[in-house]
Amino acid sequence: MLILNTHNRIDYFGKSAPYYDTILSLLTFRQYAKFQKRAMEVLSPQPGEKILDLCSGTGRVEEGEVLGMELSTNMVEFAKERYEELKRVVFLHKDVTKPWGYQNYFDAIFTSYAIHELPEKKRLSTLEHSYQALKEKGRMVIADFNPQGSGIAKTILLAFFKLFERNNLNFFSFDQNEMLRKAGFKRIETFPVLAGLFQITLAQKN
Ligand SMILES: C[S@@+](CC[C@H](N)C(=O)[O-])C[C@H]1O[C@@H](n2cnc3c(N)ncnc32)[C@H](O)[C@@H]1O
Repeated sequence: MLILNTHNRIDYFGKSAPYYDTILSLLTFRQYAKFQKRAMEVLSPQPGEKILDLCSGTGRVEEGEVLGMELSTNMVEFAKERYEELKRVVFLHKDVTKPWGYQNYFDAIFTSYAIHELPEKKRLSTLEHSYQALKEKGRMVIADFNPQGSGIAKTILLAFFKLFERNNLNFFSFDQNEMLRKAGFKRIETFPVLAGLFQITLAQKN
């Protein structure tokens, strides 16, 4: 069982970097790639756009001028090697819960499977940093578990969190759309994926 505190989880992500995509694929019964493909369709990154991949892990966004921010140094090193030939994609070792120093800079922010990983008290401020870092017509896409699901989807998700994400169980009381609105976002759309187990959210700055 993987019951890890925040510090240990970053360590775990770092150690698993070379196998991370394979582990995710197995844990999601090979649905992860499909989910990412759908999330990219919603993000629709365009050549030349400045895009932030928030908590980038091994790196998810391949189109545009991409900056990945990630707390695990191992993940950053792995992603740098992976995208060595793509000079438009760069990675920065950064704790996204601390101020970023970017204002009206990105056309889009993408984040997958990461908001639930952040400490409960830091999720809203991270969305606020995102809002400030986006240009006036910027957009944010969040791909993650759906904590507001019901029925069998909720039962499965709860069991998964109890096994692998015990420290993040507070995610079930996280009202993401409400927090996005609080951070300033307008026009929020949510797309359920895989019978409501996951969701992709598109939030416009204005
Ligand atoms: C579940 S993984 C998802 C990685 C990637 N976005 C994906 O879709 O595969 C969560 C990632 O968030 C990173 N992370 C967690 N807390 C962070 C923080 N405060 N700042 C930056 N990255 C963080 C972890 O190191 C890990 O790589």
